[in-house]
Amino acid sequence: MKRLETEYGGLKLRSPVILASAGITKAHSNVEKADKYGAGAVVLKTLFQEPLMARSPTPRFIIIKRGEKDYSSVTNLSYEQGYEHGIDQYCGEIRSCKADFETKIIASIGCGTPAKWEEWAKMVEAAGADAIEMNLSCPHSDYVMSKLGQINEFVSAMVPVVKKAVSIPVYTKLTPQIENPAVTSKIMEESGSCGVTAFSRCLGMDIDIDNQVPVLHGGYGGHGGPWAIHYALRWISEMYTKLKIPISGCGGVVEWQDIVKYILSGATTVQVCFLIYTYGYSIIEKLNNGLLQYMEKHGYESIKDFRGTVVPRIKGLTQVDRDKTRIAKVDPAICVGCGRCSDICIYNGIDFADKKASVNEKCDGCGLCLYFCPKKAILLDKK
Ligand SMILES: Cc1cc2nc3c(=O)[nH]c(=O)nc-3n(C[C@H](O)[C@H](O)[C@H](O)COP(=O)(O)O)c2cc1C
Ligand code: SF4
Ligand code: SF4
Repeated sequence: MKRLETEYGGLKLRSPVILASAGITKAHSNVEKADKYGAGAVVLKTLFQEPLMARSPTPRFIIIKRGEKDYSSVTNLSYEQGYEHGIDQYCGEIRSCKADFETKIIASIGCGTPAKWEEWAKMVEAAGADAIEMNLSCPHSDYVMSKLGQINEFVSAMVPVVKKAVSIPVYTKLTPQIENPAVTSKIMEESGSCGVTAFSRCLGMDIDIDNQVPVLHGGYGGHGGPWAIHYALRWISEMYTKLKIPISGCGGVVEWQDIVKYILSGATTVQVCFLIYTYGYSIIEKLNNGLLQYMEKHGYESIKDFRGTVVPRIKGLTQVDRDKTRIAKVDPAICVGCGRCSDICIYNGIDFADKKASVNEKCDGCGLCLYFCPKKAILLDKK
């Protein structure tokens, strides 16, 4: 496992895989499993200053599936609020976790006033936390959601307070629901943050169309899912070119390949949350093993050997080859004449003869029909 050792903003971790802040990290009994399966660190469940945030309703999860089987989506909608007990119990969990486990313990706090940020930061440090993640991102917290338009001002006012109060590393967590995460993360860096977590989830809504009300508790909730990785990779790759501090990628991890993608786009560590809810803690071992195998295959001795390697290869608008070089080809031996390709082709590029599809000169090489042919009879070839 030496290959997986990672330095993250002042902390030495045995693996870049971190359990993100959520119910999966709320107590000693949860952290025990994260430790057993090899998490580099856990970010404990956030303790919020807002009293309402300590009260989670039931139920608190819905898995939303929409669409036809070859064009469907999965979203997890949650209404889990913050840590349900007070600061004293929170510090007790930190102490017992620190006494028993190798995995690093990152406390997560979310406050609205400088005095509370300072007070709790000092308390979690005194309890033994290895670092603090400032929750500046929660979709349920009014402190964050009411300040989305002034998030940069909020960051520059609050981060220096916590930074001054403690000597352990202070990380900051970003919401994706802001105009420019690259700008806000730079302000986090300039305010003293030792590492940026990108991202938390979005505040969203789904609707019960018969009763015509929002699902779950009749309001907005936290939305995330496997799809969330894509905007995170995009922003992290940009942040990587602008920040000196490390980035912790977060959102949408469902397999070890996603950990690799985050590192390739510039992340130093990768946080995993909902996968643990759906699979269990043992997945951490699979993520670590998959990552190790990838490193062995490519001859990498450490995570930094391939961190950010994709970034200089990202093309700008003017660099994309716009020549039309491709055309679809149907294998008549495999085609069963179902007509699906012809239904979806907006270029009228498919003809039929003897119940077999064939591609005509109108095919624009868009590449879409390949994904919908039930027999995989279509290839995209050079013209
Ligand atoms: C049920 C649930 C509870 C969460 N609670 C917190 C929290 O207390 N503090 C926090 O910073 N993020 C919280 N998050 C956000 C996660 O830490 C993470 O940023 C987000 O879920 C994206 O990762 P994922 O796609 O792997 O789930 C929560 C997420 C879920 C699903
Ligand atoms: S979708 Fe595939 S099987 Fe169906 S007609 Fe087109 S090429 Fe043939
Ligand atoms: S590649 Fe695009 S344009 Fe060509 S046949 Fe398929 S869907 Fe039509």
